[in-house]
Amino acid sequence: MTDLSPLDADGVSAAVDDALAAFAAATTLDDLKEARLAHTGDKAPVSLANRQIGALEPADKAAAGKNMGMARGRLNKALEARQAELEAERDASVLVEEAVDVTLPVNRAMTGARHPLESLQERMCDTFVAMGWEVAEGPEMEAEWFNFDALNFDPDHPAREMQDTFFIDPPEAGIVLRTHTSPVQVRAALERRDALVNDGRGIYVVCPGKTFRTDALDATHTPVFHQIEGLAVDKGLTMAHLKGTLDAFARSLFGPDAVTRLRPNFFPFTEPSAEMDLRCFVCQGEDTACRTCSGTGWIEWGGCGMTHPNVLIAAGIDPEQYTAFAFGMGVERTLMFRHGVTDMRDMVEGDVRFSQQFGMEV
Ligand code: PHE
Repeated sequence: MTDLSPLDADGVSAAVDDALAAFAAATTLDDLKEARLAHTGDKAPVSLANRQIGALEPADKAAAGKNMGMARGRLNKALEARQAELEAERDASVLVEEAVDVTLPVNRAMTGARHPLESLQERMCDTFVAMGWEVAEGPEMEAEWFNFDALNFDPDHPAREMQDTFFIDPPEAGIVLRTHTSPVQVRAALERRDALVNDGRGIYVVCPGKTFRTDALDATHTPVFHQIEGLAVDKGLTMAHLKGTLDAFARSLFGPDAVTRLRPNFFPFTEPSAEMDLRCFVCQGEDTACRTCSGTGWIEWGGCGMTHPNVLIAAGIDPEQYTAFAFGMGVERTLMFRHGVTDMRDMVEGDVRFSQQFGMEV
């Protein structure tokens, strides 16, 4: 690079022209940065010439200073202008390139939603939680002892047969898929027995969960279904407490006019035992063509009774001192008649349109 004298007006002017041409030729901000360093950086001819002013004869200084000042002024102005132009171009192209079309349909991943059975089950439990009951759970793979023996089933009770109950291999191991939630009664009572006997804390639990029977899937049966079990153990509990509890439960799910009735029945683990019906909440028993109750005025809802002394004994509780009542109902069945679901298969097939009808967003 030849030395440029600050006194060489033509030379300085040529260097400025060179620089202006380079700034104009820059089409990107990076190009412009390169041109700026080359033409106004420390080693650029104009900068080097500028630095020589101090060494000039005093007589030459003023003219050289003015000339160089004007030259640098032109460079800086041109630089600034080109910088502004290129930034504006860049901003405009970014706006185009990164534009988002908010009207395009999105490829939204499906998110899960709660199943209506699950939310009904929770609602059923909530009724009891509000009355101060606890929610208890037990295993779905259950010892035969809890599922049958502790519940006073005869050794040759038909429910113990392979055609009704799923046995886990090998059958001699005595493990079944629980056929009802009643084994949780025994587990819950065993766990709370000490607090009952020592501190007088009554046992009030509901046990929701999956249950299994070897039924084929059809409109009214499913091999996997859900039940809610209730158990209360305390001093002085009678059938009246059971009836009052069931009526309160019915009112919370079916409105203030709901009523239940009990009909004699048999379960090995309750004595006396009863079938519990709900007064038809659609026709109140006044429509012989009612589809909800088939015109009978009553809807079969579940089983209940006073806990058999043998069950209390299995849980280490003295039936002379304490009495207990229990009840159990199907959640699928409740969902069916409460919401007019006519085919159980709709509940298990996983079609999101079923859940959507219950207001679930999927
Ligand atoms: N476990 C019974 C059934 O599955 C229902 C029931 C529960 C009956 C509690 C009485 C007491 O049918």
